Amino acid sequence: MWHTYLQPVSLSETVSLLRQYLGKVRILAGGTNLLVAMQQDTATAEIVIDLSRLSMLRQIRVDAGTLRLGALVTPAQVLRSELCREHALPLVQACHEWGAPQVRNRATLGGNVTNASPVGDGIPPLIALAAQVVLLSSSGERTLPVADFITAPHATLLLPDELLTEIVIPIHATPYLRRGMFHKLGMRRAQVISVVNMACMLTFADEGGASPAPLVQAARIAVGGIAPTVQLAEAAAALLVGQRLTPELCQQAGSLVAQIARPIDDIHAPAAYRQAVLGPLVAHCLAQIATNQHPASLPHVPVVLGPAMLEDSLEVMPPGNLVLQVNGQTHHLPARALGKTLLTLLRDDLGLTGTKQGCSEGRCGACTVWLNGQAVNACLVAAPQAHHARITTIEGLAHVSAAHAELHPLQQAFIEQAAAQCGYCTPGMIMAGARLLADLPHPDEAQIRRGLSGNLCRCTGYQKIIAAIRAAAQMQPTDGGQP
Ligand SMILES: Cc1cc2nc3c(=O)[nH]c(=O)nc-3n(C[C@H](O)[C@H](O)[C@H](O)COP(=O)(O)OP(=O)(O)OC[C@H]3O[C@@H](n4cnc5c(N)ncnc54)[C@H](O)[C@@H]3O)c2cc1C
Ligand code: FES
Ligand code: FES
Repeated sequence: MWHTYLQPVSLSETVSLLRQYLGKVRILAGGTNLLVAMQQDTATAEIVIDLSRLSMLRQIRVDAGTLRLGALVTPAQVLRSELCREHALPLVQACHEWGAPQVRNRATLGGNVTNASPVGDGIPPLIALAAQVVLLSSSGERTLPVADFITAPHATLLLPDELLTEIVIPIHATPYLRRGMFHKLGMRRAQVISVVNMACMLTFADEGGASPAPLVQAARIAVGGIAPTVQLAEAAAALLVGQRLTPELCQQAGSLVAQIARPIDDIHAPAAYRQAVLGPLVAHCLAQIATNQHPASLPHVPVVLGPAMLEDSLEVMPPGNLVLQVNGQTHHLPARALGKTLLTLLRDDLGLTGTKQGCSEGRCGACTVWLNGQAVNACLVAAPQAHHARITTIEGLAHVSAAHAELHPLQQAFIEQAAAQCGYCTPGMIMAGARLLADLPHPDEAQIRRGLSGNLCRCTGYQKIIAAIRAAAQMQPTDGGQP
């Protein structure tokens, strides 16, 4: 897929490589856009710069009155971050609605902003939160508001020698007077591109007091899917300021946003549909904020399928020397393996064909494996990104010894519950389900459905699959019985 694969270990090395190969390189972060495009031949790159060894870009921290999110922070990390819940709730809500668990473990916020989709779910909350991006090159650093950084669909002000390093969100002295909400409308509840998405961030002068409606002091409303780029609805925000957030005012603001919309027409929805739903959606968001129900959509315990952050100790690959630790065995791979995804490498080079190839674009979950304990889509991991990582495939889930083979409780439950029809989705389902049980030994129905939301079964055997997970949960000890 690429001719040269570079894996810098410091920011200075990264920006000097960007300058050295000016205009010829593609930056690879989580790969959930780029690796899809490359496998579909809609993107090419002679040289790839893989950011996966830049662990300093995975940090979430508070500094000098700002919340700072490294460019490689994933939705799964945001979902587990107390700092984000306190200071950037709409972003956490967006991450909760983002793709499915395997995608949330790999996608990055930096990639989302740079990809600049008109319906990227990270963008409305960041614009509503008045976030800025930090751009680094060998000649220095500059900072731009996210709203200015994105100029057109999939176009930004990023220069060819620049790296997006951080996203910076201002923190307010009175967080209890700030309320915000993200809302996404898609054609399904998971693994879906937004038809319309939006984030509202309001600061109140009081909490309502004797009056049931709080007094709005400042407002930012950002809406995606209604124009070529995410739009700030300035007139609607201005209407709210200085007024109490009554149900009537919420309706008026919704109508105003609908008036400025120039919705896009695409395969996900016609423009007329977007236009029709916009006003009511904005009004709904504002009403939820007014009545303090805006955090309700977020569960206290998120389903993330594995540790939220990859271990920092990912080793750097010596040139051309790819080493994988798969199911406890170390493999030294030939140089040709460098140009593959983890999925094709597992299947073609290691003969581990239990991991299935379905869509090769992160949508079906048939290729789910564990990468350092995280459930990921192997089709969206470049093989060198997995250098020295611990990989577990379906073949490694059972405890096999010379004397006997003991199946994982979920494998046993799949047999007992007859949870497979053609069986093509089964390895991916089991890898996602076993990871869920390792994280949450006794998941409820909603957590099971969420944990499996990145795995499709075309035989539609979902009821039995869910029954198998419930049965396995009853079989295993409370520590999850993780191999
Ligand atoms: C199955 C599936 C479901 C998805 N669902 C959603 C969804 O619900 N909501 C949503 O918003 N998106 C969704 N996406 C899209 C994708 O997950 C996001 O856009 C993601 O944030 C991209 O980040 P990444 O790290 O994977 O980017 P990559 O694919 O690695 O890169 C994307 C682009 O950004 C550039 N880039 C990345 N990082 C940097 C950096 N630090 N500095 C400069 N340039 C950089 C790359 O060169 C590339 O051009 C989905 C994707 C898939 C495959
Ligand atoms: S998600 Fe990887 S093959 Fe479908
Ligand atoms: S059992 Fe056939 S795809 Fe799931």
